[in-house]
Amino acid sequence: MSRQISIDEKLIKYLEKTGYRSEDTIDKLVAETVALGNVSRMQIAPEQGQFLEIIVRIARANNCLEIGRFTGLSSLCIAKGLPEKGKLVTIDNSDEFLSIAEKYWQMAGVNSKIESIIADGMEAMQSMIDRKYHFDFIFIDADKNNYPHYYELSLQLLPPNGIIIIDNMLWGGDVADEKNFDAQTNTIRELNIKIQKDDRVNYSLLPLSDGLSFIQKK
Ligand SMILES: C[S@@+](CC[C@H](N)C(=O)[O-])C[C@H]1O[C@@H](n2cnc3c(N)ncnc32)[C@H](O)[C@@H]1O
Repeated sequence: MSRQISIDEKLIKYLEKTGYRSEDTIDKLVAETVALGNVSRMQIAPEQGQFLEIIVRIARANNCLEIGRFTGLSSLCIAKGLPEKGKLVTIDNSDEFLSIAEKYWQMAGVNSKIESIIADGMEAMQSMIDRKYHFDFIFIDADKNNYPHYYELSLQLLPPNGIIIIDNMLWGGDVADEKNFDAQTNTIRELNIKIQKDDRVNYSLLPLSDGLSFIQKK
């Protein structure tokens, strides 16, 4: 049986160089986000964005939902994978970085596919469930403490075969540190176990960047 290889600095550099096809708009958005300082650590890795785009395309998704927009890289990539008439609704409880996101969505020509909502993630999702909304793809990348709730609410918003992707599921490697009982680490660790045991879904936990949980509702 082959095993997961360990990824050292040299291999990380290789992955960054070879595992992502550079795109001008994305590179500029990453550079502008990095210039914001420490907060830039919230942005997904471009190679994750590329993965999101492919999955949305392969799944032939038309209606996507995202929880956690920030400066809009994941939204841009999801929207790129959508057909011309496809739609992404993206929720964030802050409008602080919306203007940056919109600038790059415009540049990438995907602005018309994206509806941005400023609201609490759980409240907005519950309201969508009440209004009988459905999505075929959901990306979760907001406050980690609410991840289990976002997961449950997502299952209510998806039809069978619908897809959920959740970011940061390896949480910097802390999930494997048995001495780490930090609240966010515990929440993510418990959610990984919950998904593993959950008969309602198929899943794969991918070590792409900070870890993506790739889930298909049965
Ligand atoms: C990790 S960042 C998202 C990064 C983004 N996906 C990207 O590619 O750049 C998390 C975002 O979740 C938002 N957030 C935090 N708590 C939230 C909540 N309760 N409801 C909605 N959004 C929330 C934050 O404002 C932040 O912009």
